[in-house]
Amino acid sequence: MTDQPLARYCVFGNPIGHSKSPAIHAQFARQTGEAIRYDALLAPLDGFAASVQAFIAAGGMGANVTVPFKEEAFRLCSAHSPRALLAGAVNTLSFTDGKIFGDNTDGAGLVRDLQCNLQTPLTGRRILLLGAGGAARGALGPLLETQPALLCLANRTAAKATGLAQQFTALGPIRGCGFTALAGEAFDVVINATAASLSGEVPPLPDGIFAADALAYDMMYGEGDTPFLAEARRRGVRHLADGLGMLVEQAAEAFFVWRGVRPQTQPVRDALRNA
Ligand code: ATR
Repeated sequence: MTDQPLARYCVFGNPIGHSKSPAIHAQFARQTGEAIRYDALLAPLDGFAASVQAFIAAGGMGANVTVPFKEEAFRLCSAHSPRALLAGAVNTLSFTDGKIFGDNTDGAGLVRDLQCNLQTPLTGRRILLLGAGGAARGALGPLLETQPALLCLANRTAAKATGLAQQFTALGPIRGCGFTALAGEAFDVVINATAASLSGEVPPLPDGIFAADALAYDMMYGEGDTPFLAEARRRGVRHLADGLGMLVEQAAEAFFVWRGVRPQTQPVRDALRNA
């Protein structure tokens, strides 16, 4: 045991009751010997900034930010990492010298889960990203960094996808469209970043969208297949993954930002799956 005072971190969200982040960071802390305490804190919908200031005043050193505060967190920061600037959203705050620094570890978490855990190559591959909201936006920069043959962004509201894709054209081969414009195309990696699963729905994808040996990946997770993964399985896709791996990887990346130590993620992922 150590008598070091615990460095305080938390996650802000609304709702926040079911967050797995405290359990994940507690396991990282045990594994690495870092003396931290990590809580889940409910911020009022109209009181995010005040909640952050109160946490800083209480000695907080950093915080994660989840739905619906990632854009507001971006505006609260006085400095941003390049990947947070690209995402236009912040999920990781660090408090130093009275300043708030914003980072975004979501996209890095996704790419790490795909490449390292799932052993799915992205370089030179055709990637389809479904959705054009905050979740999709955070993934664009890190996905393009892997140098895919094409990153296609498809959304129910096509104009949002084309507009968003246009903002990233300098970073690599990216194109935006609606779902029907995907007819006749096939992709090696299909990532669902829409909120459709929340209402039990699946984006309407043309037949043949999954290439042979494609991976279907859902940023959402839950018990059993998400609606998107169930549909992919129905279409014969054999490689399926939900977003639990991304959740643990984005947390590990935040832990690294704060503590300079990279925890092992596999035991934490296994523990969550078995819980
Ligand atoms: P998040 O931060 O989770 O990305 P968001 O910014 O509200 O949330 O974005 C939700 C995304 O899910 C959008 O791309 C949305 O499509 P629209 O831009 O057309 O609204 C998409 N979405 C939500 N429900 C959907 C459904 N039933 N089918 C397909 N796409 C859906």
